[in-house]
Amino acid sequence: MKKVLVSGGNGFLGFHLVSWLQSKGNEVTVVDDLSTSKEVAFNDGVNFVKERIENFETSEKFDYVIHLASRPSPEDYSKNPVNTLLSNSIGTIRMLDIALFSNATFLYTSSSEVYGNADLIPTPESYYGYVNPNGIRSCYDEGKRFSEAIAMAYFRQHTLDVRIQRPFNVYGPRIREDGLYGRVIPRFINQCLSGNDITIHGDGSQTRSFLYVDDWLAATKTLLEKPGLSGQVLNIGSDREVTIKDLAERIRSATGSKSRISFTDRRIDDPERRSADLKNVRRILAWEPKTSLEEGLSKTINWFRERME
Ligand SMILES: NC(=O)c1ccc[n+]([C@@H]2O[C@H](COP(=O)([O-])OP(=O)(O)OC[C@H]3O[C@@H](n4cnc5c(N)ncnc54)[C@H](O)[C@@H]3O)[C@@H](O)[C@H]2O)c1
Repeated sequence: MKKVLVSGGNGFLGFHLVSWLQSKGNEVTVVDDLSTSKEVAFNDGVNFVKERIENFETSEKFDYVIHLASRPSPEDYSKNPVNTLLSNSIGTIRMLDIALFSNATFLYTSSSEVYGNADLIPTPESYYGYVNPNGIRSCYDEGKRFSEAIAMAYFRQHTLDVRIQRPFNVYGPRIREDGLYGRVIPRFINQCLSGNDITIHGDGSQTRSFLYVDDWLAATKTLLEKPGLSGQVLNIGSDREVTIKDLAERIRSATGSKSRISFTDRRIDDPERRSADLKNVRRILAWEPKTSLEEGLSKTINWFRERME
């Protein structure tokens, strides 16, 4: 039995990770301010603290400290830039200090957004990034970049066991779909199931590569637990690029919807293409994404359907 602290553990990725940690008999503490998750996801078995991670104080020691807390959706974080930066700066430092005091393994959930509008596709971990340092997305991108830098500083200066992952567009059941929080897959599914227009920002030729949440969890478990990975930074994503227009058509067809596709202004600093170079993660974690986009979309659509019934 390990003691595990998870910030943002009530959100989409957090729910899947914490459920697995619990199923292994670990003692899990979740600190979450419910800023982007609607209700508390865990009824019992989890110590739930409703608090911004920047303000969380504890004298407890943990075996694993996992920092997920952040607003992840562009529409939402660009309206809350200060909070987003604080979660990924002061929040990261709080978690690092708890990990240091505990002599724990620290896992940071960074993002493919550290690459910005990359001109090297698929993008390897060694790519430095092409990022606007003060643009509308900078609260997220630069927060993630700062957090990686400070985590690596704790690794180098204090020999803290630090592991960093860069997820690329993870989706699946429990991803929040409504209002400002909706990321592209849940937004399209929601629009199709409710018969509204599918709204594409720009002409839909921009690409993303999507990873189903079970595959994300499989990689994350190994990155957390495998010995000898201190100081490791890994992409966790897919290398299968899909245009946003193609994605919209696939979701429309998979839902049997008659929604029209409509086009709105392209978002500022929206990356043109995104695809993960998986060489390192395949070799180091002996991991491979197993769920096809068709299968993952079908499972996610079923989950949305059940909720709407
Ligand atoms: N899902 C993805 O595709 C993806 C891709 C790249 C990176 N990430 C990163 O993974 C992490 C989790 O993302 P998610 O998809 O589960 O998002 P989510 O919005 O579902 O979960 C984030 C959780 O963090 C909480 N939170 C936000 N700021 C907080 C703060 N300051 N203190 C305490 N709690 C706070 C929210 O209430 C929410 O429960 C985030 O750091 C995100 O940037 C996610």
